[in-house]
Amino acid sequence: MTTAPIALAGQELSADLDADALSRLVGLVDHDAANDPFPVIGMDAVVFVCGNATQTAHYFQSAWGMDLVAYSGPEVGNRDHTAYVLTSGSARFVIQGGVAPDSPLLDEHRRHGDGVVDLAMEVTDVDRCIVHARGQGAHILVEPHDRTDEFGTVRMAAIATYGHTRHTLVDRSRYTGPYLPGYVARRSSFVRRPGAPSRLFQALDHAVGNVELGRMNEWVHFYNKVMGFVNMAEFVGDDIATEYSALMSKVVANGNHRVKFPLNEPAVGKRKSQIDEYLEFYTEPGCQHLAQATGDILAAVDALRAEGVEFLSTPDSYYDDPVLRERIGHVRVPVAELKKRAILVDRDEDGYLLQIFTKPLGDRPTIFFELIERHGSLGFGKGNFKALFESIEREQAARGNL
Ligand code: FE2
Repeated sequence: MTTAPIALAGQELSADLDADALSRLVGLVDHDAANDPFPVIGMDAVVFVCGNATQTAHYFQSAWGMDLVAYSGPEVGNRDHTAYVLTSGSARFVIQGGVAPDSPLLDEHRRHGDGVVDLAMEVTDVDRCIVHARGQGAHILVEPHDRTDEFGTVRMAAIATYGHTRHTLVDRSRYTGPYLPGYVARRSSFVRRPGAPSRLFQALDHAVGNVELGRMNEWVHFYNKVMGFVNMAEFVGDDIATEYSALMSKVVANGNHRVKFPLNEPAVGKRKSQIDEYLEFYTEPGCQHLAQATGDILAAVDALRAEGVEFLSTPDSYYDDPVLRERIGHVRVPVAELKKRAILVDRDEDGYLLQIFTKPLGDRPTIFFELIERHGSLGFGKGNFKALFESIEREQAARGNL
């Protein structure tokens, strides 16, 4: 197979990430982009709707070490909503909140609470992607169109995916502005604490969707057909069942694995699964968690804890389990350092990974974050699913939702 060099997204180029560094961070594989019906460069942005975008933007700066780079709102002619654009390495978040009392974003927030409404992808040819997607039966929400300002032109379109989530497609090859037309460059007066790492995470590793009971395969098929995504891994049955609840999960990815979307559906268990709880409180399918790739998960967790970010706990028995110790083998730090921080470790045939999960970010038990530090492993921490789900269930029980 011929292998095209990895095309870095604009964000990656400006974040001092070279192809090798990115490849190690998020686990890339070789891919023939020339024959791809839907060539994706990478994630363009994760767009959130929040109840208070102004304060959420502050949280992502103060706790998660992100940089404010652009803004839209009433001061720049957008009377409907505010939007703050934040970056960390190649990861870009756009935090939107309704301003006008009749803003559609306020209706959206009423239904979902804080959450992700758009997993936008940077592509080389919006029109080619849309022709392919339409031919495969995708629902085109926004037809290809140009948006222009003094920084150039972007070409954009959008496709519907699970729930009310969408994938905006962006070709920004002819654009040099801070984000999109309608946004202005904006910095913040926020100053990091002395000694804090300059960046806690460098890229988005994967974005997980929770879909309806019995529809996971349909959505896997959707990504296979509409976007030409390949199947990476699947987890069913005993892999991810605890005493009380269960789920099934399959992972789809673009050709070089730059964009990875695991898809979960609830499975029948003795009690309500974590996916059922999500679907009840988000009121429909949606994005369950975002995994941020970091080069130093220990430093990141220490900095996040110091700012009050809460993580799921892991019982000591996890680290003392001789079977786990045996399976982990040698990792870059003593297990005691992981135990102290409740960082999980998993190993597969390609290497190992370190990971940890936050508690829900907002008021509802819906979206949360993962930090992941990969050392060769291309997996998702299958060996940790049981420990993770037991931890989530302790939280669910405390909320009265198990
Ligand atoms: Fe994950």
